[in-house]
Amino acid sequence: MSEDKKIIFSGIQPSGFVTLGNYLGALNNWTKLQDEYNCLYCIADLHTITVRQEPAKFRKTARELLMQYIAVGLDPEINIMYYQSHVHQHAELSWILSCFTYMGELQRMTQFKEKSQKHSDNINAGLFTYPVLMASDILLYQTDLVPVGEDQRQHLEITREIANRFNKLYGDVFKIPEAYIGKVGARVMALQDPAKKMSKSDENKNNTIAIMDSPDVIMSKFKKAVTDSENEVRMSEDKPGVSNLLNIYCAVTGYTVEQAEKEFSSSGYGDFKKAVGEAVVAKLEPIQKKFHDLENNKDYIDSIIKNNTERASYLAERTLSKVKKKIGFTPKVR
Ligand code: TYM
Repeated sequence: MSEDKKIIFSGIQPSGFVTLGNYLGALNNWTKLQDEYNCLYCIADLHTITVRQEPAKFRKTARELLMQYIAVGLDPEINIMYYQSHVHQHAELSWILSCFTYMGELQRMTQFKEKSQKHSDNINAGLFTYPVLMASDILLYQTDLVPVGEDQRQHLEITREIANRFNKLYGDVFKIPEAYIGKVGARVMALQDPAKKMSKSDENKNNTIAIMDSPDVIMSKFKKAVTDSENEVRMSEDKPGVSNLLNIYCAVTGYTVEQAEKEFSSSGYGDFKKAVGEAVVAKLEPIQKKFHDLENNKDYIDSIIKNNTERASYLAERTLSKVKKKIGFTPKVR
């Protein structure tokens, strides 16, 4: 890692197919940052077990997620991409920081409230302390910027709180990170229900586009997307379905909202939805091709896992040992 570049950290949970929301809110921005920053991208598998997983499927999803990181254009020679569960310092720092986090702060997290409603039969302590683990991920690497979608903003705020609290007690141990949230694509909504965000774990598959969906499936899901009773392509709060499609279109094409509205000023919703679908298919096609090439290259993927884990562990240990020393833990005798 070059010492003069700022540090970026982010992650995605291997809890299902990567969605267009994950791609536009996170991955797509990551690829733009790799030359300018030192970047670490973890596969946040420790976070994923807050919800029950079937072991074989979980393993497969996590492997595929790493391949998708590479397929979208993240260079594994430049970026450090690794599994969170391979770097034990994450869990260790998480315990330490949980002693610097208040129950009241965690109770306010909207994601906790939402997930405990959705999984009311399994409201485990991990679901509750999840933001502490996420803070640990970020703080372990002295991160400057965290590129995420809008839904993670609150977790970034609590990370900053915890880091400031710790620094006040022990001196400048942690860098205080900032969220990096893109202007377009930061909040992609469900296609059938644009009041809620597009989510990997949605049971209604027509709500989500997976980045590995075939062109036919993508076109058919956009065709079924909810719009409204007008026939006017315009961004507006009272047109959530159309606005979501416009947002997606702008994020994949790079057009501004004004340009897109102009382009569709005389189109009906049918043509508009077709154009959005086609733009998404065109964007995802090269990613899917690269993914399928990687599927046949097991040794290459294994070598990336090995090298990147070592790089991440080295950096994580630097921060963790500093933290332990500051707190006053007894040093190991060698
Ligand atoms: P996860 O796996 O839910 O989502 C991964 C990334 O995708 C973004 N995202 C979206 N962006 C726009 N529209 C959507 N509909 C949408 N859905 C998801 C998320 O904001 C996120 O950037 N806790 C995190 C993973 C994590 C992490 C970290 C992130 C673990 N440790 C440290 C940053 C830093 C999560 O569950 O993301």
